[in-house]
Amino acid sequence: MFQDKKVVFSGVQPSGSLTLGNYLGAIKNFSAFSDEYRCYYCVVDMHAITVRQNPAELRRRTYDTLALYMACGLDPEKNVLFVQSHVPAHAELGWILDCYTMFGELSRMTQFKDKSAKNADNINAGLFTYPSLMAADILLYQTELVPVGVDQKQHLELSRDIANRFNGVYGDTFVVPEGYIPQTTAKIMSLAEPSKKMSKSDPNENAVIRILDDRDTIIRKFKRAVTDSGCEVRRGEGKEGIENLISIYGAVTGKNPDDVEAEFDGRGYGDFKLAVGEAVADSLENVRSEFARLSADKKYLEDIMRKGSAEAARAAMRTMSKVKRKVGFTDVR
Ligand code: TRP
Repeated sequence: MFQDKKVVFSGVQPSGSLTLGNYLGAIKNFSAFSDEYRCYYCVVDMHAITVRQNPAELRRRTYDTLALYMACGLDPEKNVLFVQSHVPAHAELGWILDCYTMFGELSRMTQFKDKSAKNADNINAGLFTYPSLMAADILLYQTELVPVGVDQKQHLELSRDIANRFNGVYGDTFVVPEGYIPQTTAKIMSLAEPSKKMSKSDPNENAVIRILDDRDTIIRKFKRAVTDSGCEVRRGEGKEGIENLISIYGAVTGKNPDDVEAEFDGRGYGDFKLAVGEAVADSLENVRSEFARLSADKKYLEDIMRKGSAEAARAAMRTMSKVKRKVGFTDVR
């Protein structure tokens, strides 16, 4: 039924609670593809264990991430929502692609360098080969388009290189995916250090807006957001803080940065910060209440997981049998 549609794939790790950056930069855009594309949205628990996780917490966050997908507007009837470890083909293709990914390529990944600096006592092989597993996620479904935040651009390019390399050796096997990186909102910066990306693992809670923060918390964090010593709501040199708030306000209200500047012309930072906080809180209100409803229904979430992984596995199997034949595995059952 969906065969003629092009495929969208994206994944979110069930580690740490998701931020406004994850929402605006990625998840909020996911539902826009549901009509035109066959969409696979995956909770990538296998990627999460590249850094040490508390098992009970990982399990809970896996449910929560699925609930959050739906709370952000992804209809499980119109999208395939599933958990990575429920479809063994991800691990299988991940291994095969490891053998078509170069040590040098993986060594150049900035996320690997960052994460190894942060986890110096656990620089494991999985952390290193993370991008070939990500390539497997994408290539398994013959994906055309991958909506991600700008921080994943390098991984995506590597996925394309791996696909091209494999296709070059064996003939057309994989669709070569394109990234879809929303221009204005791809990068939401920290509220405390606006030159750094807003990161879900930032130890400073004031730097990060969580999708599930309550209204008062959101408004308080924006009030405390670091800006500069000026007073004009304008973009410019040395005004990264204000610029970040302008792009956040623009993203949640649908206004472009020029209009935001015009709207706050002559008004101070205090007014502006309050307006941003309220607009963000408004836009997340619905997500929060839907999340509360959905995450309480474990059985329903498990039904969605089962249905999603069955559908994903069916599509993945088609790619896997092609790949195995091409690399020369025997097919005896
Ligand atoms: N690496 C992505 C991130 O941390 C998550 C991810 C895993 C992903 N597999 C993917 C994203 C495939 C897009 C497509 O955000």
